[in-house]
Amino acid sequence: MKKLLIINGPNLNLLGLREPELYGRETYEDLVRRVENACKEHGLECKCFQSNHEGALVDEIQEARGRFDGIVINPAAYTHTSIAILDALRAVGIPAVEVHLTDISAREEYRRISFAGKACVRTIAGHGPAGYEEAITFLEDYLKHPASK
Ligand code: DQA
Repeated sequence: MKKLLIINGPNLNLLGLREPELYGRETYEDLVRRVENACKEHGLECKCFQSNHEGALVDEIQEARGRFDGIVINPAAYTHTSIAILDALRAVGIPAVEVHLTDISAREEYRRISFAGKACVRTIAGHGPAGYEEAITFLEDYLKHPASK
């Protein structure tokens, strides 16, 4: 069975409470349930990991080598600042999809650049929590036919 690692960055543990007009009312626990159900439906195993610390996110990506087949990552604010996360994704070479709840291209100027996205095979932004399900569907297919994407 293929395995996906789902990584969420800083402040995403506060989903549901945090700026609900932007990020919605679903909690992080709701998101984990949604992701686990989607993986089950696609016959995939998954592990969900959340941290507010850049180094912990880098450690988790490094440890994924040889253990996971795909990564879904929302690096949150580190998207726009972290070359360390970009480098870690490149170092492990595991196909990764970047997800953002909001459309980062239509928000403040400082959210327009995504470093992590440069190491990802796909970006899904602005679809709310459903974006994670899209990422899982995409990765399932990508892992079967990587050359056609
Ligand atoms: C986010 C967008 C980021 O700019 C922001 O810092 C987040 C969440 C999103 O999912 O829309 O924390 O990654």
